[in-house]
This record gives sequence, C-alpha cells and structure tokens, in this order.
Amino acid sequence: MQKIFSIAIDGPAGAGKSTIAKALAKALNAMYLDTGAMYRAVGLYMLRNGISVNDAKAVASHMDAVDISVGYEDGVQRMYLAGEDVSAAIRTPECSMAASKVSAVPAVRQRLVALQRQIAQGHSVVMDGRDIGTVVLPNATVKIFLTASAEARAQRRAKELAEKGQPADFATVLADIRQRDYQDSHRAVAPLKQADDAILVDTSSIGLQESFDLLKRTILAHI
Ligand code: DC
Repeated sequence: MQKIFSIAIDGPAGAGKSTIAKALAKALNAMYLDTGAMYRAVGLYMLRNGISVNDAKAVASHMDAVDISVGYEDGVQRMYLAGEDVSAAIRTPECSMAASKVSAVPAVRQRLVALQRQIAQGHSVVMDGRDIGTVVLPNATVKIFLTASAEARAQRRAKELAEKGQPADFATVLADIRQRDYQDSHRAVAPLKQADDAILVDTSSIGLQESFDLLKRTILAHI
C-alpha cells in the first residue's frame, strides 16, 4: 500500500458519496473531508446575514467576513462558523440550495479549495465533492465519479429527510435535485464533471453496501 494516498470522489447530489466516502476513509484509515459541508456553511452564513445567494457580487464581497473551520470529534467531521458548530444547521433543503448558489461564485471556490488542500496536506485522505478530481486534487491516487439516476437519488434523499423528521414530497425533492444538478454542472467555474481519468460507478440499481464493496476493491487495487 502506498504511504500517503488521496481518493477523490465526485458526483451529483444524492449518489451516496458522503456515506460511502466516510466508510471508505474509516476502512482505509484515512482522513475524510466532505467538501460540500464547507459550501453549505458559506450558504448558511449568507442566509443568516440576509445576503442574497443569487447576488454573486454581494456573496463575493462578504467572503472575507466568513470565519469557517473544520474540526473532527471522535473522527466525525464538524463544521464551524465563527466557532459555532453548524453541522446540523447546514443540512436543510434551503441550505442545500444556498450552497449550490454560492458554489458558483469564484471567490467562494478560491477560498474553499485553498482550505481543502491545506487540510489534506500530509494526510491520506478521502475527499468528496464535485471538483475534487478535476480541480482540488488533480493528482489524486484514485478518482471515482459516483452517480445514479435523478429518480434513484431523489428517492434516497426523500427517505433521509423523512428519517430526520423533515418529510418532503417526492416531486419537490426530485425537482430540487434536478435544479441542483443543472446549476452544479452548468456553472462557469469548476462545474461538476467526470475527470478524464476517473472511474465511473453508477449506483442506481445497487445498494450502498454493494457500492462500498465495489469502490473499496477498486481503490485497494490502486494504492
Ligand atoms: O455535496 P453537497 O450536497 O453537500 O454539496 C452542496 C453544494 O455544494 C452542491 O450543490 C454543490 C456545491 N459543491 C461544490 O460546488 N463543490 C464541491 N466540491 C462540493 C460541493
């Protein structure tokens, strides 16, 4: 096994990236970094401070004031805004949409990509997001593009929300997923796309455990 390795897992919302990436990091004894949580924290900051996430100029001009940090408690990633643990607050549908909007702003990406590289420095890491294989870690040891049909992803997301006590109807969740897919893959800077050297894994018809096993085998063959 290579001494230090980096695994990039990219793909659209709801493909199972974070669940699988988290479990892989544990199995491979690597650090896990959920980069979407960082965009969510920036989205939450803008929502809380009344800054329109549709106004790219306003978002960019407030970035200097955003005090964002990542920590780990019992190996679990926590997100902080000015020291406040916002790990739960960033998980609402409103925050998902705000994260997608602010993630199109170059000043936001610049700041977060630098922070992501800094956190990963010197560690074996499993990082998940949209641009990890294309921008953040272009030399990642293994790149995976994890995807699934919009319907399969919406079904999983609706189930997750219901389990968290935030039930939403399927049509709304599916429309949200489609809108985020469109926004994330059509923005000018670092759009969601499969890196040329990424391995494509479609989880539409396979369960989480099977996806995990497949990815683990694939990664172990490369590190
Ligand atoms: O993975 P997630 O759903 O928590 O991500 C929230 C939003 O953040 C997503 O709609 C797009 C954006 N994002 C990004 O642009 N680049 C990343 N590396 C991770 C997330």
